[in-house]
Amino acid sequence: MPKVLILDPLSQEGLDLLEQTSGIEYEVRTGLKGEDLRTALNEFDGAICRSGVKITAESLEGNTNLKVIARAGVGTDNIDSKAAARHGIVVMNTPTGNTISTAEHAFCLMMALSRNVPAANQSLVEGRWDRKKYMGTQLADKTLGVVGLGRIGMEVAKRALAFEMRVIAYDPFVSPERAAELGIELTPTVPEMLPHIDYLTVHTPLTPETKDLINAESIKKLKPGARLINCARGGIYNEEALVEGLKSGHLGGVALDVYAEEPCTDSPLFGMENVVATPHLGASTEEAQTQVAVEAVQLVVNYLTTGE
Ligand code: NAD
Ligand code: MLT
Repeated sequence: MPKVLILDPLSQEGLDLLEQTSGIEYEVRTGLKGEDLRTALNEFDGAICRSGVKITAESLEGNTNLKVIARAGVGTDNIDSKAAARHGIVVMNTPTGNTISTAEHAFCLMMALSRNVPAANQSLVEGRWDRKKYMGTQLADKTLGVVGLGRIGMEVAKRALAFEMRVIAYDPFVSPERAAELGIELTPTVPEMLPHIDYLTVHTPLTPETKDLINAESIKKLKPGARLINCARGGIYNEEALVEGLKSGHLGGVALDVYAEEPCTDSPLFGMENVVATPHLGASTEEAQTQVAVEAVQLVVNYLTTGE
């Protein structure tokens, strides 16, 4: 009977589906690494993970049993897909299940930055009634730059338009016609958009092209006071450049959900004024987690039972 290993916490609906599927056995073993992970992966036919476990070439060394790994989420960057391919292991993801939740989180971070929500909350909890200090800015009539107009970027852009923002986007794979239909202006390059935007949000994978996309040079090109949001992948914004940009006062604020190294509990950005930070929560809603878990289970079960 095919056996499926659950490597990261998966929503109950996904586990229930596995329970109800006859002819499949499963086991939940979270927090595995090193030799324990390598041994476990070789005992199962399928594996399901989120972003917690790191499936490296070493974790797959000598593997003769595993056939499929499903990522309950979008990014498969915690799985060495090339090593998996060498072992004939198929890597799949569930790209649509957390789109709306992540777009909402990016938007939530943009609003939290604009109205100083976390800092004002902290100040009030500490007993201060600081109305002057936390003067905010309106989103309406401001310009949002979006890099990566895929599933999440598009949903963020739609929400920004509903808030009466102007939206300029950069995505070499999106046609100007498609963008224009939605009321989004496309820019030919990222540097060209920077002097015109009040907010920047990125929604691309981390690739050699997007690593350090926003660095000290690009920050200089931004309008003074611009606010940056990253709900995509750590490393797209250079974190040292963000610290310098905030210290100099050129950046008006930075909101991050993702970090160059994760988990990240110690960063010079944490505690800086005008920084809002969450621990990779973009997809952490009941709805998104149910959807990605159920889809990941379906993918693995189908693959193991029908080969498709
Ligand atoms: P997607 O594939 O639908 O969209 C990515 C877009 O980026 C595509 O339109 C692509 O054309 C564009 N792109 C690629 N390289 C580019 C470049 N160099 N410059 C500009 N655009 C480029 O992916 P998605 O589902 O929208 O996810 C976007 C990102 O968000 C991914 O990195 C994903 O891992 C991440 N994500 C994070 C969370 C979270 O919890 N914070 C949740 C879901 C997804
Ligand atoms: C993703 O790529 O889907 C995200 O990083 C969300 C997650 O799994 O937490």
